[in-house]
Amino acid sequence: MKQQLLKVQNFNVSADGFGAGQGQSLERPFGHADPGQMFAWAGATASWPTRTDPGGSRGIDDYLTRDFSHNIGAEIMGRGKFGPQHGPWQDHEWRGWWGEEPPFHTPVFVMTHHTRPSITLSDTTFHFVDADPGTVLKQARVAAEGKDIRLGGGATVVREFLEADLVDTLHVAVADGVTLGSGSKLWDSPDELLDRFHLDVVPSPTGAVRHHLFWRK
Ligand SMILES: NC(=O)c1ccc[n+]([C@@H]2O[C@H](COP(=O)([O-])OP(=O)(O)OC[C@H]3O[C@@H](n4cnc5c(N)ncnc54)[C@H](OP(=O)(O)O)[C@@H]3O)[C@@H](O)[C@H]2O)c1
Repeated sequence: MKQQLLKVQNFNVSADGFGAGQGQSLERPFGHADPGQMFAWAGATASWPTRTDPGGSRGIDDYLTRDFSHNIGAEIMGRGKFGPQHGPWQDHEWRGWWGEEPPFHTPVFVMTHHTRPSITLSDTTFHFVDADPGTVLKQARVAAEGKDIRLGGGATVVREFLEADLVDTLHVAVADGVTLGSGSKLWDSPDELLDRFHLDVVPSPTGAVRHHLFWRK
């Protein structure tokens, strides 16, 4: 059977390496980071899933947006991506940011020390798992039925999987004009990965980000 890759896709960081700012809340899912600045390149593409008006950009930005779901059979994310809550769940009312039609369309494994029953919304099921990266990846591989697995972030879980040397490819869009100073950090510099990964850097035609494409040596 073809190898099932673990892929970081369309992950956005500031010039100083943060995937989100500090102070995440219901009103500010990315803390003090301005999602308009960091993520606008993706929302402007022709293939952006929630686009309602015709048009949108093509080229490399659109290619990467369109590729997001290609051959993906499961996602792994951190509890910080699923919601802004911390500690034991006060109740089970919160069902993620994405409403009744989450954009994943696969099983999603939410890593947390505070588990709760699985939730199914349309064709996405969220499972809450308290386990180390290797164990979660094994579960996701079975659920993905031969397809690849997306590592959806945030930066804390991406770092953990990198430390465990489990990541096969990464696409990280670096917003050169944005400095956050604090928050959830992926890296000090992309150079940290160069001992294990090849790197191509391709500028977005928007000028707002440079796409960093890593694959294993
Ligand atoms: N820039 C981007 O493209 C991008 C992508 C995705 C998300 N985000 C943003 O990033 C922020 C979240 O990132 P983050 O780094 O703060 O958090 P995160 O990586 O989403 O989640 C961290 C949490 O995952 C759980 N966890 C991690 N490792 C675990 C393990 N081995 N066992 C059990 N549980 C484990 C813990 O939850 P418990 O505390 O419950 O134990 C931990 O607090 C949000 O603002 C989100 O909107 C940005």
